[in-house]
Order: sequence, then C-alpha cells, then structure tokens
Amino acid sequence: QASIEVSLGSIEVGQRVTVKWRGQPIFIDRRTPSQIASAVADDSAELRDPQTDSERVQDAEWLIVVGICTHLGCVPLGQRKGDPQGQWGGWFCPCHGSHYDTSGRIRKGPAPKNLVVPPYRLASSGTVIIG
Ligand code: FES
Repeated sequence: QASIEVSLGSIEVGQRVTVKWRGQPIFIDRRTPSQIASAVADDSAELRDPQTDSERVQDAEWLIVVGICTHLGCVPLGQRKGDPQGQWGGWFCPCHGSHYDTSGRIRKGPAPKNLVVPPYRLASSGTVIIG
C-alpha cells in the first residue's frame, strides 16, 4: 500500500527495528544520546554526500532510513544485536564494505550516497506514517 503506520511506543532507546514499505526494508532507529552526539559532531567531517544530521531527521531521537545500500542494493547489517555496525557505529554493508554512520551517511567504501530518508511524518499519537 502507499503508506504504513508504525507504532513507536514499544521501541526502546538504542533499539533498531525493520519494517517493510513498498517491498523495501525501512530501518527505524531510536538513537541513544551518544549516537546523536556523534552524528552531530560529524556534521563537520569530510562527507562524501554532505548533509547535516538535522537535515536527515525530524526528531533527533528517531532516524528513519531505507535499508538499502546505495552502492548495489544489498541490505546493510547493523539492525540486529551483535551485527557489525561499521567503523562509525551505524551500518555496515557486507557486499563490498560500505560503512554508514549513526546518521546513515556514507563514510567509507564504494557507496556513493547516504542511506535514503523516505517520506514520513511523526504523529502525535506516537506513531510514524511512512509514505
Ligand atoms: Fe553495499 Fe556494494 S552493495 S557495498
């Protein structure tokens, strides 16, 4: 369907969940204060696809991205406990070794672009409507 509504109420700080939207995995990441701080600190780093963290989130605690590597379309690792999260603590694409930071920005490896932010809005009822 065109859009989905996901309840955020049961997602804990530091937890990542994956939902499906239009056949694509969507990563919902309730970031910890230190993950937010490192994303913001790296706004001034040398970025391949320059975007500030605040351009990529509506609420700093919630990072929502399409879970598809922008290189050749693998699903990056980092959603499950114990997964490799790459050198910047975000996600790691095992196909050819792309590293994404805690804002989902590409930092190292062949991927050209940051993980895509899908259209969404956070609703006051504690849900997110994606699409
Ligand atoms: Fe992710 Fe190539 S598909 S690094």
